[in-house]
Amino acid sequence: MCHLLMLQKLVIPQPCFQTVRTEGGVIMGKGFYISKVAALGGVVVAVAALSTIIALSVVYSQERSKNNGSDGGATAGPSAGPTAGPPTPPPSNEPWDKYRLPAHLVPDHYNVTLWPRLTPDPATGLYIFTGESTVEFECVEDTDLILIHSNKLNYTTLENGHLARLTSAGGAAPSITQSWLQTVTQYLVLRLNGKLLKGQRYHLYTKFTGELADDLGGFYRSEYFEGTVKKVIATTQMQPTDARKSFPCFDEPAMKAYFFITLMHDADKVALSNGAAIGTTAVTVEGVTVQQTVFERTEKMSTYLLAFIVCDYGFVNSTTDGVLIRIFARKPAIAAGQGDYALNITGPILKFFEKYYNSSYPLPKSDQIAIPDFNAGAMENWGLITYRETALLYDPAFSSNSNKERIATIIAHELAHMWFGNLVTLRWWNDLWLNEGFASYVEYLGANDAEPSWNVKDLMVLNDVHRVFAVDALASSHPLPLKRDIQNQRSSLSELFDAITYSKGASVLRMLSDFLTEDVFTRGLQSYLKEFAFGSTVYTDLWKHLQTAVEETGTDIPTTIDNIMNTWVLQMGFPVVTIDTATGGISQKHFLLDPDSATPPPSPYNYEWIVPIRWMKTGVVQNPRWLQEKSETANEMKTTGDEWVLANLNVVGYYRVNYDTANWNKLLNALSVDHSIIPVINRAQLVDDSFNLARAKIIPTVQALDTTKYLDKERDYMPWKSAINNLDFFYLMFDRTEVYGPMQTYLNNKVAPLFQYYKDMTGNWVNIPDGHLDQYNQVNAISMACKTGLPECTALVTGWFSDWMTSNINSINPNLRSTVYCNAIAAGGAAEWNFAWTQFESATIAIEADKLRYALSCTREPWLLNRYLEYTLDPEKIRKQDATSTIVYIAENVVGQSLAWDFIRAHWSYIFNEYGGGSFSFSNLINGVTKRFSTEFELQQLRQFKEDNADVGFGSGTLAVDQAIEKTQANIKWVGENKKNVLNWFETALPS
Ligand SMILES: *[C@@H]1O[C@H](CO)[C@@H](O)[C@H](O)[C@H]1NC(C)=O
Ligand SMILES: *[C@@H]1O[C@H](CO)[C@@H](O)[C@H](O)[C@H]1NC(C)=O
Ligand SMILES: [Zn+2]
Repeated sequence: MCHLLMLQKLVIPQPCFQTVRTEGGVIMGKGFYISKVAALGGVVVAVAALSTIIALSVVYSQERSKNNGSDGGATAGPSAGPTAGPPTPPPSNEPWDKYRLPAHLVPDHYNVTLWPRLTPDPATGLYIFTGESTVEFECVEDTDLILIHSNKLNYTTLENGHLARLTSAGGAAPSITQSWLQTVTQYLVLRLNGKLLKGQRYHLYTKFTGELADDLGGFYRSEYFEGTVKKVIATTQMQPTDARKSFPCFDEPAMKAYFFITLMHDADKVALSNGAAIGTTAVTVEGVTVQQTVFERTEKMSTYLLAFIVCDYGFVNSTTDGVLIRIFARKPAIAAGQGDYALNITGPILKFFEKYYNSSYPLPKSDQIAIPDFNAGAMENWGLITYRETALLYDPAFSSNSNKERIATIIAHELAHMWFGNLVTLRWWNDLWLNEGFASYVEYLGANDAEPSWNVKDLMVLNDVHRVFAVDALASSHPLPLKRDIQNQRSSLSELFDAITYSKGASVLRMLSDFLTEDVFTRGLQSYLKEFAFGSTVYTDLWKHLQTAVEETGTDIPTTIDNIMNTWVLQMGFPVVTIDTATGGISQKHFLLDPDSATPPPSPYNYEWIVPIRWMKTGVVQNPRWLQEKSETANEMKTTGDEWVLANLNVVGYYRVNYDTANWNKLLNALSVDHSIIPVINRAQLVDDSFNLARAKIIPTVQALDTTKYLDKERDYMPWKSAINNLDFFYLMFDRTEVYGPMQTYLNNKVAPLFQYYKDMTGNWVNIPDGHLDQYNQVNAISMACKTGLPECTALVTGWFSDWMTSNINSINPNLRSTVYCNAIAAGGAAEWNFAWTQFESATIAIEADKLRYALSCTREPWLLNRYLEYTLDPEKIRKQDATSTIVYIAENVVGQSLAWDFIRAHWSYIFNEYGGGSFSFSNLINGVTKRFSTEFELQQLRQFKEDNADVGFGSGTLAVDQAIEKTQANIKWVGENKKNVLNWFETALPS
């Protein structure tokens, strides 16, 4: 799945000089939420909203049991018949109390028919679906018990008085003596009067009803308007554990099976699933004539990759080497050509991956569809990929180059999964990092193939490596794989599906591919995919195949892949490599951002890594070397005279670098004399490493600031972006203090030449720069110039905006819209805000709406910000999927900060209960709202908040609350230690 973590990391211009901006909204939510409809009906139905990869069943169950939610279904204790009382509460050690399926039964295929109703049931007001399913499974070990996953389904009691019917594919089957739903562990449990026999096959039939809720998980509904007509879509999000919310199934990734899917729908609707439709016929059920679309049998696949959709969409299509490619979206979007870009790049990206994997695309068709309400960024359902609208639909009149890049990389990410993840699947969720890390790495290769002029591969350093360094440098980080024995603890789970999984996974795989060479890496990868096609693996299976490739090609690495990669995979964090160019001494040390943080847990590798080092001397690339010990001597790294050393070329290694002071000074000198001698990615690295080394008190803060001095001569995007990212912390800490003024003056002075450069390049802002990265840096120039108060900048953006307001014709370039809207609204008042709000409400493309939704948070008027905060709780105004990110946007505004904090404190229990599931990611929310905290008073408030809401809880934000407290303490200290020096530095850095 492409999680919004991934959306976030995509390079998004930084309007108003704020940090990582999502244009897509929130990180996927998790937990649970109470369905509005059900609550109105007076029935407490905790609707599962396990739409995220983060929330495994356990998480959900714990949440729900805390809230006395009861499954809507026929629930009964083991001792009761099919329809009696609640499940037995005391935890016991029965098989149905365990979260993992026993190994006795293995599914072969399922025949599933589902009928979603796109109008509410007149009697109950609920949107529902009905279904029937037969699963054929094989018994591989005798047992008198059947456990099959089921969640929130109501079963029809069959003629045998039970919730299911069991027959044998051959001889006789034992009969069911008890059947009930075990809601905590989400099973349909069947006890039998005799044993199922090893080697025999059986059929289990069920008939059931479920709610087609707007909860973004399982089989759910999404809504949109076409003109004034409300349209309803039935769609799915199964990963990780919501397939069981649409039909009873053995819902674990390794339980692969074939699926025969049938969907029932009205004649004017399109029905889609993983396989191609074989045919549609009219049938009469319960007196109603309805269409029945039968789909081709799927390949052998995991349940979490299933998809069922009934909608009123249009599509565009093409064929590449016999593979049918279709892009589905709302009819007006298709008519406006918004699916065309996705269609045009899908074929080439599929071809690219066929070559990369040396394996032809495993399916006859590839459908991709944009869903208005969608929690993640996209989901790699095999053959039917679902996307947020902003992640698939492109319109040159509205979409920025960043929007376009995001579409290309997300499509590449999802298509990469068609093989890696879908054809070959990691056996259990603890290895998810390899699945997501891999896709997050090769998405750059796929996108680069589709758009070779973009240099998109370089951006991985900013978007993944630097981004995840920030998290992985904390003592609270964690190794990549989830340990088996903690898989059922929610804190471990919510930690797992984070930037570490995606971005560290991607970064270490990029490093591996680099030191092996891409040839050797793909050779091992290809034989891995070949051996395990349609099967499942553990991550070490990939290492084995890579090792074979190393041996076959005689590749020179210091030890086995296992030995090297264990140091990166099985221990958290990463090293700072220190090079002393006077002695040639090189050494490594676990890099911790806060040197005073708690001691990290012991590591089996003692926080030492086997480090590949690519480096240069005074601009000349040298032979790479390895650092295998804590410290070694590298005579070749000694320097004399003006020589300098620069290590971790292009930041292919997952580590930071420090040098002796003399070498640092020579590097700073090289930057100021002729920065082009240092590769552009390493210029970004010098800034990022030094700011972080300073945070860790390894070098003085003013030395890090020194790396920004040359920026008045820098024109490239990556170093600027790196500086902006790092200076953001200075803004957060100082924008309410006396440092702010001198800092603004200094940065204004640095950015003014860049602003002028783009003004000239674009013929006074008429043209668009040619280069993709130049287009990004143009946005930086405007954002920074306006942010630091360059009058010409403010006049420029307010002029554009007021032209739009008066003429009602928006001629602002899409690349610049985010920052122009934001800065114009910041400079304006209620008229600008209200105009933007009207535009937001009437926007016909989500990409435009997202830019406006962000910009609305930029106003300086507290009353407008407060009103906007209220809007976030009204789904008619702000879609649930966008609520968290909107609050976080407001908190990033220095004026909005305290308002947002007051707001979430005042509404916590409401937010938690009403929005917990589909849309709210609590950790993101808490991080966002507390980012600026740096005073004792704020620390005290935060502690109070934790105490006051202990009974409500923080869901997935539990860890984030503690981290926020920790970060606030660290900020207080940092400000105390640095404010004076920093103020002094800014005051004297400019020649007067
Ligand atoms: C499922 O459907 C397929 C195709 O119609 C059929 O061959 C198979 O026997 C069915 N399996 C069961 C268990 O009903
Ligand atoms: C399932 O049964 C419960 C309890 O009878 C009921 O409240 C709920 O609405 C039912 N759900 C559906 C989708 O029919
Ligand atoms: Zn993914």
